[in-house]
Amino acid sequence: MKKILILNGPNLNLLGMREPGIYGTDTLASINEGLSKLAEELGVSVTFAQSNHEGGLIDILHETDADGVVLNAGAYTHTSVAIRDAISAIRKPVVEVHLSNIHARETFRHTSYLAPVCVGQISGFGKESYALALRALAGML
Ligand code: DQA
Repeated sequence: MKKILILNGPNLNLLGMREPGIYGTDTLASINEGLSKLAEELGVSVTFAQSNHEGGLIDILHETDADGVVLNAGAYTHTSVAIRDAISAIRKPVVEVHLSNIHARETFRHTSYLAPVCVGQISGFGKESYALALRALAGML
């Protein structure tokens, strides 16, 4: 069975209470619960991780034994050459995910350092963004 890592970056541990008008009222735990059920339907296994630290996210990417990754790198999306290089280094398909539509927000969010080294970007569908990414990645693997 193929393994998929669902990896979340900074401040996403606060989902549910963090700017609910932008990010919704679901907690990360409840989003992950929904993804576990979807994974069963899709016949893949999922593991979950979250870090508020750039290096922590890079360590997790280096060490994962997953076949592919669904990644919401939060604000590091717009700043991190180091996470981009980690994605290139691991040679595994990574799907970039955002709850909000980053292209409809402040201009500094329009740039993703990660998108060019990801297999695709899904942005703007709330928690459904993760489900769409999981489906896409499961289909690819
Ligand atoms: C986000 C969008 C980023 O710009 C922001 O910094 C986040 C969350 C999203 O899921 O919409 O932390 O990645």
